[in-house]
Amino acid sequence: MRTIAWEDGTVVTIDQTKLPNTIEFLSMKNCEEVSSAIKEMRLRGAPLIGVAAAYGLALTAYHSKAKEKEELLRELEGSSNLLRRTRPTAVNLFWAVNRVLKRAKDATGDVKALVKVVVSEAQKMAEEDVEINRRIGEHGSKLIENGDIILTHCNAGSLATVDYGTALGVIRTAWRQGKHIRVVATETRPALQGTRLTAFELKRDGIPVTLITDSTVGYAMSKGLVKKVFVGADRIVRDAVINKIGTYTIAVLAHEHGIPFYVAAPTSTFDLTHASKQITIEERSSKEVTNIGSQRIAPEGVDVLNPAFDIAPIKYVSAIISETGVLSTTEFEKLTLNR
Ligand code: MRU
Repeated sequence: MRTIAWEDGTVVTIDQTKLPNTIEFLSMKNCEEVSSAIKEMRLRGAPLIGVAAAYGLALTAYHSKAKEKEELLRELEGSSNLLRRTRPTAVNLFWAVNRVLKRAKDATGDVKALVKVVVSEAQKMAEEDVEINRRIGEHGSKLIENGDIILTHCNAGSLATVDYGTALGVIRTAWRQGKHIRVVATETRPALQGTRLTAFELKRDGIPVTLITDSTVGYAMSKGLVKKVFVGADRIVRDAVINKIGTYTIAVLAHEHGIPFYVAAPTSTFDLTHASKQITIEERSSKEVTNIGSQRIAPEGVDVLNPAFDIAPIKYVSAIISETGVLSTTEFEKLTLNR
Protein backbone atom coordinates (compact mmCIF):
# COMPACT_ATOMS: atom_id res chain seq x y z
CA MET A 1 0.00 0.00 0.00
CA ARG A 2 1.30 3.46 -0.89
CA THR A 3 2.17 5.84 1.94
CA ILE A 4 1.15 8.97 0.04
CA ALA A 5 -1.24 9.66 -2.82
CA TRP A 6 -2.58 12.57 -4.87
CA GLU A 7 -6.38 12.53 -5.14
CA ASP A 8 -7.67 15.42 -7.26
CA GLY A 9 -6.30 18.33 -5.29
CA THR A 10 -5.91 16.51 -1.96
CA VAL A 11 -2.83 14.71 -0.68
CA VAL A 12 -3.61 11.68 1.45
CA THR A 13 -1.15 10.00 3.78
CA ILE A 14 -1.16 7.75 6.84
CA ASP A 15 -0.70 9.62 10.12
CA GLN A 16 2.44 7.86 11.37
CA THR A 17 2.16 9.30 14.87
CA LYS A 18 -0.89 7.04 15.37
CA LEU A 19 0.70 3.80 14.14
CA PRO A 20 0.59 0.92 14.84
CA ASN A 21 -2.51 1.11 17.04
CA THR A 22 -4.64 3.19 14.71
CA ILE A 23 -4.56 3.47 10.93
CA GLU A 24 -5.71 7.02 10.43
CA PHE A 25 -5.53 8.83 7.11
CA LEU A 26 -4.62 12.47 6.89
CA SER A 27 -6.04 14.55 4.03
CA MET A 28 -4.05 17.67 3.23
CA LYS A 29 -5.53 20.41 1.08
CA ASN A 30 -2.77 23.01 1.10
CA CYS A 31 0.97 23.39 1.51
CA GLU A 32 0.60 24.68 5.09
CA GLU A 33 -1.00 21.37 6.09
CA VAL A 34 1.78 19.43 4.36
CA SER A 35 4.42 21.54 6.14
CA SER A 36 2.78 20.92 9.53
CA ALA A 37 2.55 17.17 8.84
CA ILE A 38 6.29 17.08 8.04
CA LYS A 39 7.21 19.15 11.10
CA GLU A 40 5.05 17.07 13.44
CA MET A 41 6.41 13.86 11.87
CA ARG A 42 2.94 12.68 10.85
CA LEU A 43 4.85 11.73 7.74
CA ARG A 44 8.59 11.19 7.99
CA GLY A 45 11.59 9.48 6.39
CA ALA A 46 13.81 11.34 3.92
CA PRO A 47 12.35 10.08 0.60
CA LEU A 48 8.75 10.50 1.79
CA ILE A 49 9.45 14.02 3.07
CA GLY A 50 10.82 14.86 -0.40
CA VAL A 51 7.78 13.58 -2.26
CA ALA A 52 5.41 15.21 0.26
CA ALA A 53 7.16 18.55 -0.29
CA ALA A 54 6.70 18.17 -4.06
CA TYR A 55 3.02 17.43 -3.46
CA GLY A 56 2.83 20.49 -1.17
CA LEU A 57 3.88 22.63 -4.13
CA ALA A 58 1.41 20.76 -6.34
CA LEU A 59 -1.38 21.74 -3.90
CA THR A 60 -0.31 25.39 -4.05
CA ALA A 61 -0.41 25.32 -7.84
CA TYR A 62 -3.64 23.34 -8.11
CA HIS A 63 -5.65 25.62 -5.78
CA SER A 64 -4.08 28.89 -6.87
CA LYS A 65 -6.30 31.74 -8.10
CA ALA A 66 -3.35 33.39 -9.85
CA LYS A 67 -4.12 34.88 -13.25
CA GLU A 68 -0.51 35.43 -14.28
CA LYS A 69 2.35 32.97 -14.35
CA GLU A 70 4.58 35.36 -12.37
CA GLU A 71 2.00 35.47 -9.58
CA LEU A 72 1.85 31.68 -9.36
CA LEU A 73 5.65 31.46 -9.38
CA ARG A 74 5.72 33.90 -6.44
CA GLU A 75 3.20 31.70 -4.57
CA LEU A 76 5.35 28.65 -5.27
CA GLU A 77 8.43 30.48 -3.93
CA GLY A 78 6.46 31.28 -0.75
CA SER A 79 5.40 27.64 -0.32
CA SER A 80 8.97 26.48 -0.98
CA ASN A 81 10.27 28.69 1.81
CA LEU A 82 7.64 27.34 4.17
CA LEU A 83 8.61 23.74 3.31
CA ARG A 84 12.34 24.46 3.65
CA ARG A 85 11.78 25.58 7.24
CA THR A 86 10.13 22.31 8.36
CA ARG A 87 13.05 19.96 8.92
CA PRO A 88 16.65 20.89 8.12
CA THR A 89 18.54 17.61 7.82
CA ALA A 90 16.99 15.34 5.18
CA VAL A 91 18.38 16.65 1.90
CA ASN A 92 15.56 15.06 -0.12
CA LEU A 93 13.28 17.89 1.05
CA PHE A 94 15.51 20.57 -0.52
CA TRP A 95 16.22 18.43 -3.56
CA ALA A 96 12.49 17.95 -4.21
CA VAL A 97 11.55 21.60 -3.70
CA ASN A 98 14.37 22.77 -6.00
CA ARG A 99 13.46 20.22 -8.67
CA VAL A 100 9.79 21.25 -8.79
CA LEU A 101 10.64 24.97 -8.69
CA LYS A 102 13.11 24.61 -11.55
CA ARG A 103 10.54 22.70 -13.61
CA ALA A 104 8.00 25.46 -12.89
CA LYS A 105 10.40 28.26 -13.83
CA ASP A 106 11.40 26.52 -17.07
CA ALA A 107 7.78 25.82 -18.07
CA THR A 108 6.35 27.50 -21.13
CA GLY A 109 2.67 28.30 -21.76
CA ASP A 110 -0.03 29.90 -19.60
CA VAL A 111 -0.93 29.54 -15.90
CA LYS A 112 -3.01 26.43 -16.58
CA ALA A 113 -0.05 24.78 -18.29
CA LEU A 114 2.16 25.71 -15.34
CA VAL A 115 -0.25 24.10 -12.86
CA LYS A 116 -0.18 20.94 -14.94
CA VAL A 117 3.62 20.91 -15.04
CA VAL A 118 3.92 21.25 -11.24
CA VAL A 119 1.31 18.59 -10.45
CA SER A 120 2.69 16.11 -12.95
CA GLU A 121 6.27 16.66 -11.75
CA ALA A 122 5.20 15.80 -8.18
CA GLN A 123 3.40 12.69 -9.42
CA LYS A 124 6.41 11.70 -11.49
CA MET A 125 8.64 11.99 -8.41
CA ALA A 126 6.30 9.72 -6.44
CA GLU A 127 6.39 7.09 -9.21
CA GLU A 128 10.15 7.38 -9.52
CA ASP A 129 10.58 6.85 -5.78
CA VAL A 130 8.83 3.47 -5.96
CA GLU A 131 10.94 2.36 -8.91
CA ILE A 132 14.17 3.57 -7.28
CA ASN A 133 13.39 1.63 -4.11
CA ARG A 134 12.77 -1.54 -6.12
CA ARG A 135 16.17 -1.11 -7.74
CA ILE A 136 17.86 -0.46 -4.39
CA GLY A 137 16.21 -3.68 -3.19
CA GLU A 138 17.53 -5.65 -6.17
CA HIS A 139 21.10 -4.36 -5.80
CA GLY A 140 21.23 -4.63 -2.02
CA SER A 141 19.71 -8.10 -1.80
CA LYS A 142 22.88 -9.47 -3.43
CA LEU A 143 24.67 -8.64 -0.18
CA ILE A 144 22.30 -10.81 1.85
CA GLU A 145 22.86 -14.53 2.36
CA ASN A 146 20.77 -17.34 3.76
CA GLY A 147 20.92 -17.30 7.53
CA ASP A 148 21.76 -13.60 7.87
CA ILE A 149 20.57 -11.73 10.92
CA ILE A 150 20.22 -8.11 9.87
CA LEU A 151 20.09 -5.18 12.23
CA THR A 152 18.22 -2.08 11.08
CA HIS A 153 17.66 1.22 12.85
CA CYS A 154 14.75 3.67 12.76
CA ASN A 155 12.35 3.03 9.88
CA ALA A 156 13.64 2.98 6.33
CA GLY A 157 10.65 1.05 5.03
CA SER A 158 7.61 1.71 2.89
CA LEU A 159 6.44 4.20 5.53
CA ALA A 160 9.59 6.27 5.00
CA THR A 161 9.13 6.29 1.22
CA VAL A 162 6.25 6.24 -1.23
CA ASP A 163 6.36 2.45 -1.17
CA TYR A 164 8.71 -0.48 -0.53
CA GLY A 165 11.53 1.26 1.36
CA THR A 166 15.31 1.58 1.16
CA ALA A 167 17.02 -0.50 3.89
CA LEU A 168 13.78 -2.43 4.48
CA GLY A 169 13.34 -2.65 0.70
CA VAL A 170 16.63 -4.57 0.56
CA ILE A 171 15.47 -6.88 3.36
CA ARG A 172 12.06 -7.30 1.71
CA THR A 173 13.64 -8.26 -1.63
CA ALA A 174 15.94 -10.82 0.00
CA TRP A 175 12.95 -12.30 1.85
CA ARG A 176 10.91 -12.51 -1.38
CA GLN A 177 13.85 -14.25 -3.03
CA GLY A 178 13.34 -16.98 -0.44
CA LYS A 179 16.38 -16.20 1.69
CA HIS A 180 16.04 -17.30 5.30
CA ILE A 181 16.78 -14.18 7.27
CA ARG A 182 15.89 -12.54 10.55
CA VAL A 183 15.77 -8.87 11.39
CA VAL A 184 16.81 -7.16 14.59
CA ALA A 185 15.02 -3.82 14.86
CA THR A 186 16.12 -1.15 17.31
CA GLU A 187 13.32 0.67 19.12
CA THR A 188 14.81 4.06 18.04
CA ARG A 189 14.38 6.46 20.92
CA PRO A 190 12.81 8.91 21.33
CA ALA A 191 10.11 8.75 18.62
CA LEU A 192 10.18 4.92 18.49
CA GLN A 193 10.09 4.50 14.71
CA GLY A 194 11.61 1.02 15.13
CA THR A 195 9.07 -0.16 17.67
CA ARG A 196 6.03 1.42 16.07
CA LEU A 197 6.81 1.36 12.33
CA THR A 198 9.58 -1.11 11.43
CA ALA A 199 8.20 -3.87 13.66
CA PHE A 200 4.74 -3.14 12.22
CA GLU A 201 5.92 -3.37 8.60
CA LEU A 202 7.94 -6.55 9.14
CA LYS A 203 5.16 -8.29 11.08
CA ARG A 204 2.73 -7.36 8.32
CA ASP A 205 5.04 -8.98 5.75
CA GLY A 206 5.69 -12.05 7.91
CA ILE A 207 9.46 -11.34 8.10
CA PRO A 208 10.87 -12.60 11.44
CA VAL A 209 11.84 -9.66 13.63
CA THR A 210 13.25 -9.21 17.12
CA LEU A 211 12.83 -5.82 18.73
CA ILE A 212 15.63 -4.53 20.97
CA THR A 213 16.23 -1.34 22.91
CA ASP A 214 18.84 0.96 21.37
CA SER A 215 21.21 0.19 24.23
CA THR A 216 21.09 -3.55 23.48
CA VAL A 217 22.99 -3.18 20.18
CA GLY A 218 26.44 -3.73 21.77
CA TYR A 219 25.26 -6.79 23.69
CA ALA A 220 23.57 -8.30 20.60
CA MET A 221 26.68 -7.78 18.46
CA SER A 222 29.05 -9.15 21.11
CA LYS A 223 26.92 -12.31 21.34
CA GLY A 224 27.02 -12.88 17.58
CA LEU A 225 23.33 -12.05 17.22
CA VAL A 226 23.89 -9.61 14.33
CA LYS A 227 25.56 -10.53 11.02
CA LYS A 228 24.99 -7.38 8.96
CA VAL A 229 23.63 -3.87 9.42
CA PHE A 230 21.43 -2.11 6.85
CA VAL A 231 20.28 1.44 7.54
CA GLY A 232 18.84 4.30 5.49
CA ALA A 233 20.14 7.88 5.39
CA ASP A 234 18.83 11.41 5.59
CA ARG A 235 21.86 12.84 3.86
CA ILE A 236 25.11 11.35 2.61
CA VAL A 237 27.74 14.07 2.47
CA ARG A 238 31.34 13.86 1.26
CA ASP A 239 32.68 12.48 4.54
CA ALA A 240 29.75 10.95 6.39
CA VAL A 241 26.32 9.40 6.53
CA ILE A 242 23.79 11.43 8.45
CA ASN A 243 20.94 9.33 9.77
CA LYS A 244 18.69 8.82 12.79
CA ILE A 245 20.32 9.43 16.16
CA GLY A 246 22.02 6.21 17.23
CA THR A 247 23.33 5.33 13.77
CA TYR A 248 26.85 6.51 14.64
CA THR A 249 26.93 4.29 17.73
CA ILE A 250 25.77 1.31 15.66
CA ALA A 251 28.42 2.03 12.99
CA VAL A 252 31.24 2.15 15.55
CA LEU A 253 30.00 -1.01 17.26
CA ALA A 254 29.71 -2.80 13.90
CA HIS A 255 33.30 -1.79 13.10
CA GLU A 256 34.51 -3.06 16.49
CA HIS A 257 32.80 -6.43 15.90
CA GLY A 258 33.78 -6.79 12.22
CA ILE A 259 30.14 -6.60 11.09
CA PRO A 260 29.44 -5.05 7.64
CA PHE A 261 27.59 -1.74 7.89
CA TYR A 262 25.58 -0.95 4.74
CA VAL A 263 23.68 2.23 3.90
CA ALA A 264 20.78 2.07 1.43
CA ALA A 265 19.63 5.39 -0.03
CA PRO A 266 18.54 6.91 -3.34
CA THR A 267 21.00 9.24 -5.09
CA SER A 268 18.63 12.10 -4.16
CA THR A 269 19.98 11.61 -0.61
CA PHE A 270 23.56 12.24 -1.79
CA ASP A 271 24.80 15.74 -1.02
CA LEU A 272 28.23 15.87 -2.59
CA THR A 273 28.53 19.63 -2.23
CA HIS A 274 28.75 19.54 1.56
CA ALA A 275 30.83 18.02 4.35
CA SER A 276 29.29 16.92 7.63
CA LYS A 277 30.36 19.95 9.66
CA GLN A 278 28.31 22.20 7.36
CA ILE A 279 25.03 20.36 8.01
CA THR A 280 22.35 21.45 10.46
CA ILE A 281 21.35 18.61 12.71
CA GLU A 282 17.72 19.01 13.69
CA GLU A 283 17.14 19.49 17.40
CA ARG A 284 13.66 18.41 18.45
CA SER A 285 11.46 19.20 21.42
CA SER A 286 12.78 18.23 24.87
CA LYS A 287 9.36 16.68 25.50
CA GLU A 288 10.32 13.74 23.25
CA VAL A 289 12.90 12.84 25.92
CA THR A 290 11.26 13.96 29.17
CA ASN A 291 7.94 12.28 28.35
CA ILE A 292 6.73 8.88 27.29
CA GLY A 293 3.60 9.68 25.36
CA SER A 294 1.79 12.36 27.35
CA GLN A 295 3.30 11.15 30.64
CA ARG A 296 6.20 13.19 32.02
CA ILE A 297 8.92 10.98 33.51
CA ALA A 298 11.85 13.39 33.95
CA PRO A 299 11.97 15.90 36.79
CA GLU A 300 10.79 19.42 35.90
CA GLY A 301 13.55 21.78 34.77
CA VAL A 302 16.09 19.16 33.67
CA ASP A 303 18.27 20.10 30.67
CA VAL A 304 17.77 17.95 27.58
CA LEU A 305 19.84 17.36 24.44
CA ASN A 306 17.69 15.87 21.68
CA PRO A 307 19.34 15.82 18.25
CA ALA A 308 17.23 13.88 15.74
CA PHE A 309 20.22 12.68 13.72
CA ASP A 310 23.91 11.89 14.08
CA ILE A 311 26.95 11.65 11.83
CA ALA A 312 28.64 8.36 10.98
CA PRO A 313 32.03 8.99 9.30
CA ILE A 314 32.31 7.30 5.91
CA LYS A 315 35.21 5.12 7.18
CA TYR A 316 32.66 3.01 9.07
CA VAL A 317 30.55 2.35 5.95
CA SER A 318 31.12 -0.94 4.08
CA ALA A 319 29.14 0.13 1.00
CA ILE A 320 26.37 2.45 -0.15
CA ILE A 321 23.47 0.94 -2.06
CA SER A 322 21.59 3.25 -4.38
CA GLU A 323 19.41 2.76 -7.46
CA THR A 324 22.58 2.76 -9.59
CA GLY A 325 24.17 -0.17 -7.76
CA VAL A 326 26.40 -1.02 -4.81
CA LEU A 327 29.10 1.62 -4.34
CA SER A 328 32.22 0.97 -2.31
CA THR A 329 33.26 4.00 -0.26
CA THR A 330 36.22 4.48 -2.63
CA GLU A 331 33.76 4.64 -5.53
CA PHE A 332 31.60 7.05 -3.53
CA GLU A 333 34.60 9.28 -2.81
CA LYS A 334 35.51 9.30 -6.53
CA LEU A 335 31.95 10.41 -7.26
CA THR A 336 32.56 13.28 -4.88
CA LEU A 337 35.77 14.32 -6.64
CA ASN A 338 34.14 14.18 -10.08
CA ARG A 339 31.55 16.84 -9.17
O1 MRU B 1 13.10 11.50 11.98
P1 MRU B 1 12.72 10.54 10.88
O2 MRU B 1 11.81 9.46 11.32
O3 MRU B 1 12.23 11.27 9.66
O4 MRU B 1 14.11 9.87 10.49
C1 MRU B 1 14.13 8.91 9.48
C2 MRU B 1 15.44 8.28 9.29
O5 MRU B 1 16.39 8.59 9.97
C3 MRU B 1 15.57 7.28 8.18
O6 MRU B 1 16.55 6.32 8.48
C4 MRU B 1 15.98 8.00 6.89
O7 MRU B 1 15.16 9.09 6.64
C5 MRU B 1 15.95 7.09 5.73
S1 MRU B 1 14.32 6.60 5.33
C6 MRU B 1 14.33 5.70 3.91
